[in-house]
Amino acid sequence: MSLLIHISDTHFGTEKPPVVAALVALARERRPDVLVFSGDVTQRARQSEFAAAADFCRELGIARMLALPGNHDIPLFDVVGRLFRPYAGYLEAFGPRLEPFVETQDLFVVGVNTTRPNRHKNGVVSAEQVARVSSQLRQARRGQLRIVVTHQPAAVSRPEDEHDRLRGAGPALQAWSVAGADLVLGGHIHLPYVLDLATGPQAVARPMWCVQAGTAVSERVRHGTCNSVNLIEWSTPRAGEPRRCAVERWDYSAKAGGFETAERRILPLA
Ligand SMILES: [Fe+2]
Ligand SMILES: [Fe+2]
Repeated sequence: MSLLIHISDTHFGTEKPPVVAALVALARERRPDVLVFSGDVTQRARQSEFAAAADFCRELGIARMLALPGNHDIPLFDVVGRLFRPYAGYLEAFGPRLEPFVETQDLFVVGVNTTRPNRHKNGVVSAEQVARVSSQLRQARRGQLRIVVTHQPAAVSRPEDEHDRLRGAGPALQAWSVAGADLVLGGHIHLPYVLDLATGPQAVARPMWCVQAGTAVSERVRHGTCNSVNLIEWSTPRAGEPRRCAVERWDYSAKAGGFETAERRILPLA
């Protein structure tokens, strides 16, 4: 079995030390194969915040990591930096690539940089990015769980979050579904949820799921949620077995002093 931990929106600079320690403890206990970090690593793209985030990732002790920048990882008030070196701080700590790719025997994970320095918060996926990710997905081996990661959500669960939805997500989801994606992971709105993308008015043609993470360790909890992370379990099915994965949300409990399983779902896949 392969285990992937999905964290997001740590916003270092606003992190809660007991929650950081609890997440390190969870990672050391469960020993995931891959860490997916879907952006907003820092609160204000400061060097000290990136350094703290990079130290935290090392402490997790996970062999493979796929990280993406979020809108908070581009300087906001430093106009010169925003214009001329928007990703300098991020790349120094998490580079060298803005659109990384990670694979193991069983997992195939493609990152998409959906931030744009000329936009404040809104994320975009371009036609070039849609095509590039689609052709990468087609190279996945049988037996690998195929995952695309963005910062802004590819789908939202509430009408009031529609303005935060990734621009260009509709055509992207259609194309990535055809190319074989199973899951699309994101963050940004600090609201964890799992959405079936094969139902509803913009349904894709084969089973695919949007899996969103809340804020892992930041004080910036919203929507009445708490700090949370996702654990995704995957075993390559034997002949005749259905493809499916398990997604668990783990919530931080101050009372328990650690992360606890809050929800477990089995997602049927194509
Ligand atoms: Fe965020
Ligand atoms: Fe964000």
